[in-house]
Amino acid sequence: MSATPVPAQDAAGPVVELRDVCVDFRSRTGSVFRTQRVRAVEHVSIEVHRGRTLGIVGESGSGKTTMAKVLVGLQEPTSGEIRFDGEAVTRYTAAVRRRVGRVVSVVFQDPATALNARMRIGEALRDPLDVHGVGTPAQRTARVRELLHLVGLPDSALEAMPGQLSGGQRQRVAIARALSLGPEVVVADEPTSALDVSVRAQILNLLADLKTELNLGMVFISHDIQTVRHVSDEIVVMRRGQIVEQGPAARVFDDPHDEYTRTLLAAAPALL
Ligand SMILES: Nc1ncnc2c1ncn2[C@@H]1O[C@H](COP(=O)(O)OP(=O)(O)O)[C@@H](O)[C@H]1O
Ligand SMILES: [Mg+2]
Repeated sequence: MSATPVPAQDAAGPVVELRDVCVDFRSRTGSVFRTQRVRAVEHVSIEVHRGRTLGIVGESGSGKTTMAKVLVGLQEPTSGEIRFDGEAVTRYTAAVRRRVGRVVSVVFQDPATALNARMRIGEALRDPLDVHGVGTPAQRTARVRELLHLVGLPDSALEAMPGQLSGGQRQRVAIARALSLGPEVVVADEPTSALDVSVRAQILNLLADLKTELNLGMVFISHDIQTVRHVSDEIVVMRRGQIVEQGPAARVFDDPHDEYTRTLLAAAPALL
């Protein structure tokens, strides 16, 4: 579907890799004269591979969203290295951001804010294709329908405004949009947290199915360890910006090495 296909890459190599990444912010609470620094992400190293799901868990404020933004090229690290398709990114130019945006895309927590309220669903899905000049106009129209079907929405959704859809349907549209340029990796940051409990499992299953069908690398972020339990191949547990535990999902759940991981696991299971 794309005019310039993503270059073939070593099947064994990570699509995205963070090496010893730190991200500092100026504190929101510090005074104008004495700004304090917050270290949101501290010496984090992770790899994201095609066909595998990396679950990132940790309580609110542990640095998950900041890490997600680094992974999709929206946040420059203060130190450390980020590699896309094995190539280190040193300068965050517009061209680099565009290239990264095609390879790694993101689904945020709240589908209501992710979509332009005044754009019809069909336009919202077509927009990235137009911006990146993908294919002919006819091919773009066909691609929009293909994307809708991929996320289980009917053609009738094309003419709908975001406000006419349910939260779950809007999140499906946000997922379709994230898939529009044929990414290798999708980063889903708390994609079910803003949704009704009744539709959370559906969205979780949809993401898991898409990962298999499209051989995507998936990064699934949640404050709730039980939510990532069944979809993750590997788990990273974060606390105060640091990775406190990292390993194959089965091992982390059956034999957690870290005290904090054990605390998270002992908490009452959430309803996805
Ligand atoms: N743009 C920002 N400016 C200042 N501080 C920030 C900014 N973004 C995040 N932080 C701080 O960084 C820490 C990690 O935040 P975040 O990555 O959003 O965590 P999480 O997604 O796990 O809740 C928090 O202390 C938060 O207040
Ligand atoms: Mg967050």
